[in-house]
Amino acid sequence: MDNSKIKRYTVTAALPYTNGPVHIGHLAGVYLPADTYVRYLRSNKRDVKFICGSDENGVPITLKAKKEGVTPQVVVDKYHKIIGDSFKDFGVSFDIYHRTSSQMHHQTASDFFKTLYEKGVFTEEITEQYYDEKAQTFLADRYITGTCPKCGNENAYGDQCENCGSTLNATDLINPKSTLSGEPPVRKETKNWFLPLDKYEDQLRTYIESHKEWKPNVLGQCQSWLNAGLQPRAMTRDLDWGVKVPVKDAEGKVLYVWFDAPIGYISATKELFEYARLDVWNPRAEEYYINQNEVEKGNWEEYWKSKDTKLVHFIGKDNIVFHCIIFPAMLMAHGDYILADNVPANEFLNLEGQKISTSKNWAVWLNEYLEEFEGKQDVLRYVLTATAPETKDNDFTWKDFQARNNNELVAILGNFINRVVVLTHKYFDGKVPMCMKITSTDQQVIDELAAAPAKISASIENYRFREALGEVMNVARLGNKYLAETEPWKVIKTDEDRVRTILNISLQIAANLEILIEPFLPFTADKLMKMLNYGGHTWESAGRVNLLHRGHQLNEPVLLFEKIEDDAVQAQIDKLNQSKLDNNTTSATGAPAKEDVQFEQFSAIDIRVATIIAAEKVEKTKKLLKLTLDTGLDQRTVVSGIAEYYKPEDIIGQQVSLIVNLAPREIKGIMSQGMILMSEDADGKLAFVAPIAKHQNGSVIR
Ligand code: MF3
Ligand code: ZN
Repeated sequence: MDNSKIKRYTVTAALPYTNGPVHIGHLAGVYLPADTYVRYLRSNKRDVKFICGSDENGVPITLKAKKEGVTPQVVVDKYHKIIGDSFKDFGVSFDIYHRTSSQMHHQTASDFFKTLYEKGVFTEEITEQYYDEKAQTFLADRYITGTCPKCGNENAYGDQCENCGSTLNATDLINPKSTLSGEPPVRKETKNWFLPLDKYEDQLRTYIESHKEWKPNVLGQCQSWLNAGLQPRAMTRDLDWGVKVPVKDAEGKVLYVWFDAPIGYISATKELFEYARLDVWNPRAEEYYINQNEVEKGNWEEYWKSKDTKLVHFIGKDNIVFHCIIFPAMLMAHGDYILADNVPANEFLNLEGQKISTSKNWAVWLNEYLEEFEGKQDVLRYVLTATAPETKDNDFTWKDFQARNNNELVAILGNFINRVVVLTHKYFDGKVPMCMKITSTDQQVIDELAAAPAKISASIENYRFREALGEVMNVARLGNKYLAETEPWKVIKTDEDRVRTILNISLQIAANLEILIEPFLPFTADKLMKMLNYGGHTWESAGRVNLLHRGHQLNEPVLLFEKIEDDAVQAQIDKLNQSKLDNNTTSATGAPAKEDVQFEQFSAIDIRVATIIAAEKVEKTKKLLKLTLDTGLDQRTVVSGIAEYYKPEDIIGQQVSLIVNLAPREIKGIMSQGMILMSEDADGKLAFVAPIAKHQNGSVIR
């Protein structure tokens, strides 16, 4: 889009699934480039809304809930906060970090579906889907495992084989099994609504071909989808967690998560403007990470429907088809919306030579990083941008992290700023000296500085953030070189006026750096701003040498960066190696089997299904919860040592297995009448043991 035609920007970052914390791969691939871009636009005084939120629907969430033995709501509440806090801690400056479990989103997604439905966009199709008769539920692809028809891997999922990487249909699997009951699923007919992508193929081709400037990896994937020919795709699923399908005859069905999630960008924008209308502070603003002071009056529709709005989606490469084909087709079918001007997708970041893996705990989690490197957000921001997987997969290593901190941030940027500020304090009481006669060396430096912002802008506007950061560091290098060549610490003995000029120009470079680093290193920019006692942050003044005036008083020097020692990174490497060990041993960590028992001994134990109807912490204990259970026979109190794993409010309604005839015992002054069965893994993590489908309280377990 022609810059002069752009009135405003809507910048979105992929909504992370709320089934775990975010790690460095997410940050490097999506959230840092997006944040850098947005900060740059704001520094240019452009009107921009930066939109994100939690993707709280879909199978990834229900699977995680199943795994942890809690409800999906518990899972999304927990991770929404962890993820939202991590983004905030790392300075990712969303205008809103919304949630797709919100009322606003359910309404917006539901209305969007209804509009398409009423326009007759969807086709209704009856297909056979796998169904688990025991659990009485249709099975999403991820709930089915079996043998991969391509490579023979026995643990392939219904949508994908992780061994050979092929995309599969659940019906392709040999010997399919439900992960819920372990039984072979049966086929059962069900009706769903399909978006006929084939009908939009020409329109999509025209759209994509009009964007030759998109990154080659993005265009490549789009081309191969288009060339293969698009097929109708189901936009509804037989699942009970998500946005209900708002039409008749759709009980037990929700919107396909890839239908509702991108609409999440729209509902978040709407929510943001709802807050703009409020005169009183709304506590939900906190939940959605909105800075209510900053919300201007305006209209969400301008950000989604005006032709002079530039819409940009930052995503990872596994999201390309959804943002370049399916979502645009939905928007075309609807008719009111603009389409993305660019979809800068990154490749993946590896960690120490291996694919980042949540299940293998092969990751650097943002929340954990900050526990060990407090206050060093910008170091990670720097390293991840400098090694961002922009054109190919890339590798993060702790050694490289240390080297870039010590040899680049400390030795180049930190060192330059420190020398200039210290020398100014030493020779001129911390006051900016006057620029005297300019030499040709000075002029050269001034010219190079003047040329830098345009280069950096061009790189950022073309989504080449590594290159842009390299150019920013070149400005610091320029400063160091200038000091090394002019040697003010020597010249001061003979020619004070010359030193005035050298330090004046050096301080102008420092003030420029404040502006130029801000999109990348916002925390450092703030420190520098305070040190220079300078307002900063507007891009249009970058490149000039009159930013700090003669006599302007600087504050005391502080170090921007500090050296990271070997033992700090070694500790991180050790931690990863520990995950590796854990992975190799978990299958064998189960304690050896106990002695045989007779069937009579076993059947003497009366185990029943019960439901937790109330829960509270036992005072002055760390581990104990006092539970009230409906056992079908009675209501009773049980004290259980699960408080480190479950919050009382999260487990109300949870079904459990209860030994009802265990002799009552007094625990901390409370009579405990029975014992709840828990499974414990090698890490000592606990999970409830309960029937897979809801059973009546009192049902016998044997
Ligand atoms: N949750 C998805 C993922 O992590 C991304 C959703 S992006 C959206 O891959 F557009 F759908 F919101
Ligand atoms: Zn395979």
